[in-house]
Amino acid sequence: MAGFCLLIGVFLVTFDYGHTGNDIRDTGSTKQQILKLSKMMAKLESVVEEIQNDNRKLKGVISELSNRLENEIRLRGQLEERVRRCEICLNEDDGNDVIMHQTSLNTTTTRKRFSGIRTPNGTIAFSAYMTHNLSNLGNLRILVFDAIFINEGNGYNHYVGVFTAPRTGLYVFTWTIRTYDGYYNTQLLVDGLMDGSIYTASNFITDSSSATAVVRVVAGQSVYIRTGPANNGGAIYSGNAGFSSFSGWTID
Ligand SMILES: *[C@@H]1O[C@H](CO)[C@@H](O)[C@H](O)[C@H]1NC(C)=O
Ligand SMILES: *[C@@H]1O[C@H](CO)[C@@H](O)[C@H](O)[C@H]1NC(C)=O
Ligand SMILES: *[C@@H]1O[C@H](CO)[C@@H](O)[C@H](O)[C@H]1NC(C)=O
Repeated sequence: MAGFCLLIGVFLVTFDYGHTGNDIRDTGSTKQQILKLSKMMAKLESVVEEIQNDNRKLKGVISELSNRLENEIRLRGQLEERVRRCEICLNEDDGNDVIMHQTSLNTTTTRKRFSGIRTPNGTIAFSAYMTHNLSNLGNLRILVFDAIFINEGNGYNHYVGVFTAPRTGLYVFTWTIRTYDGYYNTQLLVDGLMDGSIYTASNFITDSSSATAVVRVVAGQSVYIRTGPANNGGAIYSGNAGFSSFSGWTID
């Protein structure tokens, strides 16, 4: 449009100069000029039309681009939200992740156990062990296996030593107790009822016993190992090798 105005301006100045600068003119020459001018006008009109067409096309392109940009901004927002959620997931500490120190023959490695992840097929499994020795624990005391090997389904609480079934199912439980100059009856309690029992005794030596129980457990019921009601004494041995442990998993 600016170009067009400029053209008109130049044209007017030319015309004015031609008019005042040549007072005596014959009509033939004026006619010629008018003819020339009307040709120019026609040309200008077609140029304007062309510009208007281009303008329309450009407006279309701009509106399409701004639509696309809006789309991109929306997608970016969605992606950012997803990344944010993933980051929260990664940073989340469910209180059940345990730093483990594991000793092989020559080396000690430290790794973080991730727990609380439920397997896609609904398998529940935990395995935990005691990191320390206990002595003269007494009767009817819950054994806390405070370090986790695995805790799929996040059912086992290593602070209190209690497994709470995330779902109803048929479960296998097994526990191993190592004593030193000790005598311990340990029992598996499921929802307050005894579902297994062993006795481990050793005079001035160390010895281990294991027991296994298969139990149908209803979601929400608690399962733990405790000392029996009478005559328990001496030491229970464990440590990072996991000599005393407690495990459970679903079989249906
Ligand atoms: C332990 O170290 C010895 C000697 O350095 C080496 O021969 C052996 O292969 C190592 N064992 C392991 C399990 O790394
Ligand atoms: C359940 O899923 C886990 C992990 O995907 C797999 O390791 C395990 O073998 C599966 N268990 C069964 C019974 O399919
Ligand atoms: C448990 O006691 C035994 C014997 O005193 C000892 O060798 C072992 O280091 C102790 N374990 C822990 C984890 O303190």
